[in-house]
Amino acid sequence: MINSWNDDQDFQRFIDAGGMVEPRDEMPEGYRHEVFRFIEFHANSELMGGLTERDWIPRAPGVRLKQIFLAKTQDEIGHAHLLYQVAADMGVKSRTEMLEQLFAGTSRFHNVFHYQAVTWADQIAIAYLVDAAAFASQRAVFAECSYGPYKRVLKRIVAEEGFHMRHGEEMLLRLAEGTRTQRSMFQAALDRWWWPAVQLFGPDSDPNDPLLAWKIKSQPNEQLRHAYIQKYVPLLQGYGFEIPDANLRFDEQAADGKGAWVTTDIDWEPLIATMRQGGPDSRRRIMTAAENYRDTAWVRAALETAATARVAS
Ligand SMILES: [Fe+2]
Ligand SMILES: [Fe+2]
Repeated sequence: MINSWNDDQDFQRFIDAGGMVEPRDEMPEGYRHEVFRFIEFHANSELMGGLTERDWIPRAPGVRLKQIFLAKTQDEIGHAHLLYQVAADMGVKSRTEMLEQLFAGTSRFHNVFHYQAVTWADQIAIAYLVDAAAFASQRAVFAECSYGPYKRVLKRIVAEEGFHMRHGEEMLLRLAEGTRTQRSMFQAALDRWWWPAVQLFGPDSDPNDPLLAWKIKSQPNEQLRHAYIQKYVPLLQGYGFEIPDANLRFDEQAADGKGAWVTTDIDWEPLIATMRQGGPDSRRRIMTAAENYRDTAWVRAALETAATARVAS
């Protein structure tokens, strides 16, 4: 059955009642474009994240970690593939247009993939902090998610991100129990990655954000960010590391008397810079990805030729 609605209020009633929108349904143009933009951003982020993981396969210490990082790279590129397909089916841009805009530097992706991973400890910080932040924000989308195809692929993506997060935890615990050098390497990585991971959730949501009303986001950004800080501050301190925030304090009165960790006021400038491709490693990352796309054009052409030949025969 193909759903259609009399007007935007009728569509909103359907969403409020827990309705699920499918690609062939009619949908308000605002919904189509906003949901498309959200999924395209997610797809771009998975692809750029996957390329970072790939960079570290040759440098991963030992065969076991190489296998794990190979699998993780495949997971992330797989997530991107699924999401580009879901986005393309919304009829706003083709998959090729999305990829070409990403590699031309005119499309956006998550702030954390605009920074350089300097040491192996950075890879561990990424797996522990960034995969956890991505997991929390994707799980919050999955919780409601009114767009059917997105919800279905998120089920798999969230499950796999859960593995990445657990693996990050395992690697962090090894470093935490390791030598003084290993611990100080992780502390330096934490100094580099703490704020980008916290900023991944974005500034406070506009209460009128249509993505909240349309149940693509199930919680405003500030709630997700708050929960993340409450969970990771005591964990990292418990492992003996220091959060790079001189004003961090536990306020007994916060959260209606339950108490909460309160951070310094967040400087959003670094996040805004990444959205303009002006992050510390944005140019190199986009250029490397674009070169890679050009170098592999022959694979896509060969597949296209084989597919055309099969149809013709
Ligand atoms: Fe992923
Ligand atoms: Fe991941």
